Amino acid sequence: SDPNALQDFCVADLNAATSVNGFPCKPDSQVSSSDFFFSGLRMEGNTANVFGANVTAGNVLSFPGLNTLGISMNRVDLAPGGVNPLHLHPRATESGVIILGEVLVGFITTRNVLYSKVLKAGEMFVIPKGLVHFQKNVGPGKALVLAAFNSQNPGAVILPTNLFASNPTIPNEILAKNFQVDETVITSIKSKFGSS
Ligand code: GLV
Ligand code: MN
Repeated sequence: SDPNALQDFCVADLNAATSVNGFPCKPDSQVSSSDFFFSGLRMEGNTANVFGANVTAGNVLSFPGLNTLGISMNRVDLAPGGVNPLHLHPRATESGVIILGEVLVGFITTRNVLYSKVLKAGEMFVIPKGLVHFQKNVGPGKALVLAAFNSQNPGAVILPTNLFASNPTIPNEILAKNFQVDETVITSIKSKFGSS
């Protein structure tokens, strides 16, 4: 859903002094084959973290050849029991395919309906733009998901860290009122993310 390009390509100059909506183009004389290929999704991500999940992004920031082309991909590695935490992409619809393992994929609509299904290798899902979603490895071994986006820079609002590890932090009384709990519960959740 990014704007249409008016040239074949515009390999991003990530270091340009200014950018408006995307990045300026590298001069054609500096463009080579390597600008249009990206090996960054080959490596398994490190899932040794509280979520048991790792997202490796192939977006314009890691793969500048995507600039102005309106697409990108992620690699999602999930340890057994791992969860890619509740998040949303403000600028893109996501589709994906399970490469390995069994994964519970779900999203929640603006009417608070949860749609979810356990998928096996080769099966595909779609997450409508901007909706909160998650993936959980429900199989006995590792799981691997490849996700595709209709934006070069989908963005990700990761709810646990967005709400409980922002900088500056959201005042405890705001979070306590939102979630209808005591402020000590909020302090406890924040501490899990190294926030206070
Ligand atoms: C999965 O939902 C991802 O955004 O990579
Ligand atoms: Mn996602």
